[in-house]
Amino acid sequence: MKPIIEVQNVSFDYVGQGGEETAALDNVSLTIGKGEFVVMIGHNGSGKSTLAKHFNALLKPRSGDVWVKGMNTKEEDRLWDIRQTAGMVFQNPDNQLVANVVEEDVAFGPENLAVPPAEIRKQVDDALSAVNMTEYATSAPHFLSGGQKQRVSIAGVIAMHPEIIILDEPTAMLDPSGRREVMDTIHRLNKEDGITIVHITHYMEEAIHADRVIVMDNGRIVLDGTPREIFRQADMLKNIGLDVPQIVELCHELRREGFDIEGDPISLEEMVDALCQ
Ligand SMILES: Nc1ncnc2c1ncn2[C@@H]1O[C@H](COP(=O)(O)OP(=O)(O)OP(=O)(O)O)[C@@H](O)[C@H]1O
Ligand SMILES: [Mg+2]
Repeated sequence: MKPIIEVQNVSFDYVGQGGEETAALDNVSLTIGKGEFVVMIGHNGSGKSTLAKHFNALLKPRSGDVWVKGMNTKEEDRLWDIRQTAGMVFQNPDNQLVANVVEEDVAFGPENLAVPPAEIRKQVDDALSAVNMTEYATSAPHFLSGGQKQRVSIAGVIAMHPEIIILDEPTAMLDPSGRREVMDTIHRLNKEDGITIVHITHYMEEAIHADRVIVMDNGRIVLDGTPREIFRQADMLKNIGLDVPQIVELCHELRREGFDIEGDPISLEEMVDALCQ
């Protein structure tokens, strides 16, 4: 797979006003391939957001390098290219929507890139359609549900034609149906449009269908593999304060009770298959 994000030996500390330093990343190296769906997990303060902000040059490494599609994030004159290549969606949808009408909000990015008006119209329509929000184009964002607002935030990023979307806990403030809407949307963008996804979450369930799961602890990557490889290591995950998906937990419980379950089911469908054998 062609690399699209390359992180080489990156360390980063936050420096407070009194000069005090908080170490946040400790010699992290990582390559993300074009088209991958990557989920990043790790307990509070493990460095997920700090690493994610390096992926679109919101932060620059203290030491080491980050390349986005071959552009080094330290090259000031590539900043806008990098931000347009790697769009970011954050936790709180209310902080991300700035306009009073949905379509104006989505147009904000292309307008800043000085895209001609006729083209903006098309980009906005395409972006709203990509997140299934066409019928709300002229609505006011504050009438939307949390999941709908997050989909508008994603449309705002899509209107810039990014190759990568980085989502930092986009589902944290949503109810279960909002979470499902957002997860369905980003999986579809990945499958149908080949957009590389980096999704940060505290919900282990959201990692099940990823291509790859990266586990962070204390500023380092401690595990990196397929969801099945990662959730097989339940003890290690518990040691660093993480859970496993409910199905994995259930599988452990059933085995403890003497049930013979083949393989390592991680999703409901796989569990049903394993139990019906
Ligand atoms: N703006 C900041 N100033 C100082 N220290 C910070 C700042 N942001 C984060 N940190 C510290 O850097 C470390 C990594 O934080 P980071 O926000 O990257 O973790 P995280 O994995 O995203 O956590 P969470 O799950 O809570 O979002 C933590 O020790 C945190 O306290
Ligand atoms: Mg965070």
